[in-house]
Amino acid sequence: MKSKDEAANSKALELIERAALARSHSVAPFSHFLVGAAVRTEEGKVYAGSNVESASYGLTVCAERVAIWKALSEGERQFTDLAIVADTESLTPPCGACRQIIWEFCGDIAIVLANLSGSQETVRMSDLLPRPFEAGFFE
Ligand code: THU
Repeated sequence: MKSKDEAANSKALELIERAALARSHSVAPFSHFLVGAAVRTEEGKVYAGSNVESASYGLTVCAERVAIWKALSEGERQFTDLAIVADTESLTPPCGACRQIIWEFCGDIAIVLANLSGSQETVRMSDLLPRPFEAGFFE
């Protein structure tokens, strides 16, 4: 039988694989920086996305947001973890804009950072975005 750690790691690996596959569909003709992301719902369904760049640069969308927009627009609302895969030695974390969006739509989930050489690290959103701005401030 698998230990708890082994089970957690194989779940992370599954999400990393989905993000790596999405990365292979990256549309990054300007930066050539290919990124894939995959977000998992509470029921275990996975939605993946890649970064998509625009010639305007500013309309470029990161892989994390593409994955989250796909999931939200299919009706999903509860998420457990999100993997980000890029080909960097120092693991690529989500940008500031994505941290805000991940926090607002996914909350304090686990973020799995990985590269193509097998390095991986899991961090919590609350560590990546301490003291977040969120809808609660409007109430
Ligand atoms: N990018 C992502 O997709 N996710 C990140 O976490 C960091 C940056 C993309 C945006 C742009 O297409 C390229 O990487 C370079 O910034």
